[in-house]
Amino acid sequence: MALNPFIWDRPLDDPSKIVGMEAFAHQVALTLKGQTNVALFGPRDTGKTTLTNQLALELAKTHGDDAPPFDVVKINLQRVVSIPGFIGCVHDAMVGHPVRQLRRAAQPQVGALEKEIGFDIKVIKGSVRRTGAKPEQDGETLHAQLTALRSLSPRLVVVFDEFQRLRHCHGDPLSIIRSALMSSGANHVSLLFTGSIRNALKMMLEDSSQPIIGEAARMRLPSIDRVDFLEYLDFQFGATGKPAEEQALEHLLNLTRSHPRSTQQLAWETWTDTAAGSPSRSRP
Ligand SMILES: Nc1ncnc2c1ncn2[C@@H]1O[C@H](COP(=O)(O)OP(=O)(O)OP(=O)(O)O)[C@@H](O)[C@H]1O
Ligand SMILES: [Mg+2]
Repeated sequence: MALNPFIWDRPLDDPSKIVGMEAFAHQVALTLKGQTNVALFGPRDTGKTTLTNQLALELAKTHGDDAPPFDVVKINLQRVVSIPGFIGCVHDAMVGHPVRQLRRAAQPQVGALEKEIGFDIKVIKGSVRRTGAKPEQDGETLHAQLTALRSLSPRLVVVFDEFQRLRHCHGDPLSIIRSALMSSGANHVSLLFTGSIRNALKMMLEDSSQPIIGEAARMRLPSIDRVDFLEYLDFQFGATGKPAEEQALEHLLNLTRSHPRSTQQLAWETWTDTAAGSPSRSRP
């Protein structure tokens, strides 16, 4: 029995399921390889995190002699409210990196850092139990950790997903990022910031002393081309034994206005409600 091919509750990581983002990922990759930081902010559930997955594949390609493959470290700031939380996320991104070579390179870096600061980073992650640490120490640890991160690869892109979360974080994480990843010594590092628009704008306005985002090229996530989405839906319904009429798919896309997540969710429900073998028809 075929599984429901549609996914709407998490970012997509299977490139064969990411619709219509290749050209844009290519454009972002070339910008980052050309040593320009990028800020990509957009509405919720439109595919920003999914794009970072497609981007990682694109960055791994060679784009001519002056643009060899780049490594990518993705830092998910979704739940970060403090510097120790941030440190925990960077730690996870380093030691849990999907590429074994980078994971291995991270181990001694983390070891050296722990020796320098005199304790296990895992202790910071469970910082409720830690006593006596001063906020400045945490800031210094984060700085040392980001400096270790930048030495993981000679060509590196660091992605900060849900970047606007740092707005809620005391201890000036933006200056720390700036000093560790945007100063001399970090010329081989490019940054991609992603997140929701409204908070990012606030962040820029409120934080005019730290114009990190102002210094990044601002790009908009393109919408998924309707024809591409139509083809994708047609293919997925057909390949899973529930072929759909074009009119039904047109109707589905009209209802969702091709919004990425809404389309996937409605397709998921339609698929579930359709018996195998019968074309799914549009409902009145
Ligand atoms: N390129 C794409 N092709 C097809 N579906 C997509 C694409 N991008 C996103 N989606 C759909 O949208 C959903 C949400 O994607 P994703 O989590 O990447 O969005 P986001 O913008 O990062 O959301 P959030 O604002 O919550 O972080 C996915 O589960 C998927 O259903
Ligand atoms: Mg996201």
